[in-house]
Amino acid sequence: MKKNALILGIETSCDETAAAIIQENDSSRPTILSNIVSSQIDVHKEFGGVVPELAARSHIEKIDLIVQKAVYDSGKKFSDLDAIAVTAGPGLIVCLSVGLNFAKSLALSLDKPLIAVNHLEGHALSPKLVTDLNYPYLLLLISGGHTQFLNVKKLGNYQRLGTTIDDALGEAFDKTAKMIGIEFPGGPYLEKFAEKGNPSRFDLPRPILNKGGCNVSFAGLKTAVLKISKTIKNKQDKYDLAASFQETIKEILYVKTKIAFKEFIKVNKKKLDKVFVIAGGVAANKCIRKVLNDVSLENNFKPIFPPQYLCGDNAAMIAIVGLEKFKIKKFDKLNYPAKPRWPLDKKAIFLKGAGVKL
Ligand code: KG4
Ligand code: ZN
Repeated sequence: MKKNALILGIETSCDETAAAIIQENDSSRPTILSNIVSSQIDVHKEFGGVVPELAARSHIEKIDLIVQKAVYDSGKKFSDLDAIAVTAGPGLIVCLSVGLNFAKSLALSLDKPLIAVNHLEGHALSPKLVTDLNYPYLLLLISGGHTQFLNVKKLGNYQRLGTTIDDALGEAFDKTAKMIGIEFPGGPYLEKFAEKGNPSRFDLPRPILNKGGCNVSFAGLKTAVLKISKTIKNKQDKYDLAASFQETIKEILYVKTKIAFKEFIKVNKKKLDKVFVIAGGVAANKCIRKVLNDVSLENNFKPIFPPQYLCGDNAAMIAIVGLEKFKIKKFDKLNYPAKPRWPLDKKAIFLKGAGVKL
């Protein structure tokens, strides 16, 4: 009888040390047997952002414990594993190297295949852990380093439809939070501030709203927030600025998602299921989930959000990509390099910085 594949996933691309074990089963979705995420918030808090050297040191201190715990919690043994999947990029090279080298040593000592995973593909496939999902689908990836609309054709085959021409959405949240004086990590705390604020108090710009297809821009918004942040006097002003920022983001995403829907239909030509997956850390934001849910239903798209615990960085999403690659025996050599930059659509042109023609 064929054994159901058992995959260990390891993730250390930024400031979360994570390990997870998933197992293939007879349904189309695997079972998550364990999913351990150790966050470094306390390490970076006093600096107001992730310090790469400290992040790498923290990964080194914890990686073996986290992996051991993932195996222990799964009720399995190291020798039961069928493959080791690990994030090889994109991310901070000093951080990626910790997980990648650990995974290589494990693969070598256990004599199991190594599978190098693109972190962004992990986010893209994360709903597959809990939902049936067929290709192609439209993906909005909103994380700390990326903001992209992608046509997901199949495993490893992505077509970028739109991207940010400056900051990523998570980065815009984090920078805005810092300017308002909200503590690290800014994104989730800004959402809490916004709950108590008046979203129409400040009128903020909506850069490239009516041009550039479904490309987005957040840099001008940041400049406007900086100007206002210098004039705010009390807590309520902070709440109002946070709420106004979030409201503006909602409006931008509403308009740009409608354009992305049209482009997705155009590039796929044939009759297709209209499925829209929203993934990445910012997908945890409840207001953003609501507006993207509404715009999907208005346009006959089925929205799929990973549950909150799979939105931020985790290793179950790395393991699911590992499982998909394991099924087609796509293994990697032990000299596989860490890749700080690793776009999902290799053919897409670089679209960043002043002077970009839209
Ligand atoms: O996917 P992720 O965990 O890591 C990267 O791959 O970048 O995304 C982290 C980003 C951070 O910028 C964080 O502030 C943002 O996601 N984020 C949020 C929320 N939770 C996390 N932004 C807005 N609202 C949230 N609730
Ligand atoms: Zn991520």
